[in-house]
Amino acid sequence: MAKKKISAAKICAEESRYLMSTYRRPPIVFTHGRGCRLHDSQGREYLDFLGGIAVNALGHAHPRIVRVIRREAGRATHVSNLFHNPYQAPLARKLAAWSGLDRVFFTNSGSESVEGALKLARAYAHAKATPGVAPKTRILALENSFHGRTMGALSVTHTPKYREPFAPLIPGVEFVRVNDVADLDAKFDSTVCAVIIEPIQGEGGIYPISEEFWQRARDLTIEHGAALIADEIQAGLGRTGRRFAYQRFTARPDIVTVAKPLASGLPLGAFIASNEFASVFSPGMHGSTFGGGPLVCATALEFLSIIEDDDLLANVQARGAELRAGLEKAAARFEFIREVRGEGLIVGVDLAVEGAPFVKEALRRGLLINCTHDHILRLLPPFIIRQRDVAEFLHKFESALARGAKLAKQSGAGTSAKASHSQPMALAAAR
Ligand SMILES: Cc1ncc(COP(=O)(O)O)c(C=O)c1O
Repeated sequence: MAKKKISAAKICAEESRYLMSTYRRPPIVFTHGRGCRLHDSQGREYLDFLGGIAVNALGHAHPRIVRVIRREAGRATHVSNLFHNPYQAPLARKLAAWSGLDRVFFTNSGSESVEGALKLARAYAHAKATPGVAPKTRILALENSFHGRTMGALSVTHTPKYREPFAPLIPGVEFVRVNDVADLDAKFDSTVCAVIIEPIQGEGGIYPISEEFWQRARDLTIEHGAALIADEIQAGLGRTGRRFAYQRFTARPDIVTVAKPLASGLPLGAFIASNEFASVFSPGMHGSTFGGGPLVCATALEFLSIIEDDDLLANVQARGAELRAGLEKAAARFEFIREVRGEGLIVGVDLAVEGAPFVKEALRRGLLINCTHDHILRLLPPFIIRQRDVAEFLHKFESALARGAKLAKQSGAGTSAKASHSQPMALAAAR
């Protein structure tokens, strides 16, 4: 039977008629992919340096992932959490081993993992409260943070435009300036039950947390019996070239959230905790209909095995170094690149100008990238990229930068001078 041709125009028109208007997307319909390449309905090929926003860490249609999904789809996709399935225990064992923590709860998304982590911290505070004394309930999060869109996760997300239409959010959340130990000290007291930190802020524009700040958060949370939560949803599970981004620090968190790449594009997340915290949950306190089904858990086990079998952490480190070296060269050539930040394959190119025209120019050259906070180009390529993919990307990206700069000049937007902006708030002030 002949394959029916997909009309991108028709799909876009129907979407604008029937979908709620929450995304602004270019008129491209992707139909299939292989490795780090995606193909659209018009037959165009794209080099995918966005990876479904840090989800497709093994690229598209990885043969081992395809095999597992086919196998499990023919067995049982879902049995509910009222019963056991063969894959939750081995996957939890592996996540515990990777993180150095003890126990796992499976969710369906990053936001749900954050919700669960916050609930666990609150439950711990309730369990440990002195009788007759109110339990600790305050939560500290960071300025410029992103933890998700559900009410709890949104409450610890800093960006006003995401929060304000949905106020009031959950009370008791305060934001600390990134890497500002004095601000952390000033806001921390014995009423705090949790501090939640992305070891590298992803949506915020690829800003790394300092060892000093992390260590201070660790010391204060230990001193006051509060939870240190690492949100590793974007930077975790290998993206930095380590299993978790917090592993560049000496101290370990109490609770870690994961999602995005875990089941290679199927919806699966988790929060992982030490026995000290996990032990406060008892049957009925938390739950999920879909979380941790056999199909998604078998796929996640395969994902983690592939990272180990193919030594992908080493590839992430090597390709990441090449990518950043190439981008530094571009930064030396283009005045309007303020800074290149990141580790492994989570990289931000901070521009002194609007990023959108550069994303468009990249797309015209068959490159998929994204822009966060209006002026930070974000690269999140799959862990399987090869040296020649990086070289191809850099070649086309430089051409997109040159063209974008020309267009900006023509439109009179101009390009301002360089300055270092390794602190997000310095950046906010500069804008
Ligand atoms: C650090 C971090 N936390 C939480 C989330 C929310 O995850 P999800 O969109 O799967 O709910 C994201 C998504 O981008 C994220 O980057």
